[in-house]
Amino acid sequence: MNLIGIIGAMEEEVSQLKEKMTDVRITKKAEMEFCKGILNGKAVVVVRSGIGKVNAGICAQILVDDYQVDCIINTGIAGSLKNEINIGDIVVSTDTVQHDMDATGFGYPLGQIPRMDTLAFPADEKLIALAQEVCREVIPEIQVFAGRVVSGDQFVSDRESKERISKNFQGYCTEMEGAAIAQAAYLNHVPYVVLRAISDKADDSASVDYPAFEREAIRHSVELMSNMVKRL
Ligand code: ADE
Repeated sequence: MNLIGIIGAMEEEVSQLKEKMTDVRITKKAEMEFCKGILNGKAVVVVRSGIGKVNAGICAQILVDDYQVDCIINTGIAGSLKNEINIGDIVVSTDTVQHDMDATGFGYPLGQIPRMDTLAFPADEKLIALAQEVCREVIPEIQVFAGRVVSGDQFVSDRESKERISKNFQGYCTEMEGAAIAQAAYLNHVPYVVLRAISDKADDSASVDYPAFEREAIRHSVELMSNMVKRL
């Protein structure tokens, strides 16, 4: 890989990566700071996209157009959709779906974007395997899962929404950007993967757990991300 694009939605998710970088050159576009430099010996562009699917899609497209990145990795935190996935654990996307896309009235399955040829955007096999391997090596005390990441413009924080999303999409975790980055990557034929550390259980406890565990979750996603780039 010549150049790796790394997107985090929030400054807290990318600031520790930026601190580890050298030879940084910053360019601003669409209110986003694109930090190009070296992270653990690899050329990367690290950027905070802002929250939500539109910000994330715009950000991914700029990485493709202006930097011609060879892959896009989305790092950050998420709410767990499965009992066995605990706060602090990592989910590596096998694919991603947008849970708030609903054209069922036109006869499309829930989550499918009309006139696109796929319901879910498959992540890159090599990136999935490498992320799991590195995670087991560098954070052996936590569990790592490979499964579907489900995205939507919603902070999921009640049991009914969690159960509905979980039943409809068989997701492992939910967040607000991954599937939009995946859609941009898919349209541009760029490999991608989403790496998310769990900050909450996406149920009635989420609003309390999220602020309490955000830091720990971010520490895990940063640890994984910075070690993974060495091997790309
Ligand atoms: N990011 C972290 N936790 C989340 C949740 N419960 N819903 C959506 N995005 C999240």
